[in-house]
Amino acid sequence: MSATPSAVERPLNFSSPYLRAHLVRDAVDYTVEGRTIVVNPGVTPVTIAEEPRKTIPPLSSTVLADTRIEKADALLLLRSAPDGTDITGITAEPGWSHLADLLGPGEFPRETALHRSPQDDINTVLFDPAHVLGERENATDLREFNVRANLWFSPAGTDCAVHNSHDFIEVHTQVHGLGRMQRFRDRDHASLYQDVLMSPGYTTPDPFCATGPQCTYHYPWHQYRADTDCIWLAIEYHPVPRALRTLHPVTTPNPLENHS
Ligand SMILES: [Fe+2]
Repeated sequence: MSATPSAVERPLNFSSPYLRAHLVRDAVDYTVEGRTIVVNPGVTPVTIAEEPRKTIPPLSSTVLADTRIEKADALLLLRSAPDGTDITGITAEPGWSHLADLLGPGEFPRETALHRSPQDDINTVLFDPAHVLGERENATDLREFNVRANLWFSPAGTDCAVHNSHDFIEVHTQVHGLGRMQRFRDRDHASLYQDVLMSPGYTTPDPFCATGPQCTYHYPWHQYRADTDCIWLAIEYHPVPRALRTLHPVTTPNPLENHS
């Protein structure tokens, strides 16, 4: 990866020899060197400097190789270890935990091999969740979100637990191996109604949730399933309470504030 003079680049706190992960801020004419998973965590399309001009849409990703990005507020760049590397060792890297240890006694089954990396604070973004989630055509109610990212690991054949509750919007990108995000009618594998197959560089389109009352999100029953040993990236958009927003105003201009 090659930084342009204006770009600010740093390793994410879950970067390791198994997976090099970087955050690039304020990229302009930014060169992506070598084969790299490039994630656009923002709500503005990111243009690839090739003809015909095409974009990485908001909340999505692609695999790029030796090309340039015209402009991006933020990009996540991920490079997995070479083929043949035993990636199971990633869970011994600093800050990784079994989810049962993170959630506490009785909250998650110890026998389900689901491990999480440290979480990194990426940035703060403004968007209308109803617009981003496809519930209205135009953005009319911009809200502030803290963007956080972490990796997950599960070995081949793991069903990572069907659940339907989050107080944030989540988006998943496959980084290593083959897996799937699945939706169910009930908390029952037999009620599966959608199976989204994922290979490295793929991000599930259209976040799974819908808006609920008072900045809550309504999720269907869903789970990740690892078909092979898998690493995947979660990006979480946590709504910032409006009182906190007053105390810590964001620097990104909010066009709606000019009309209030
Ligand atoms: Fe989830």
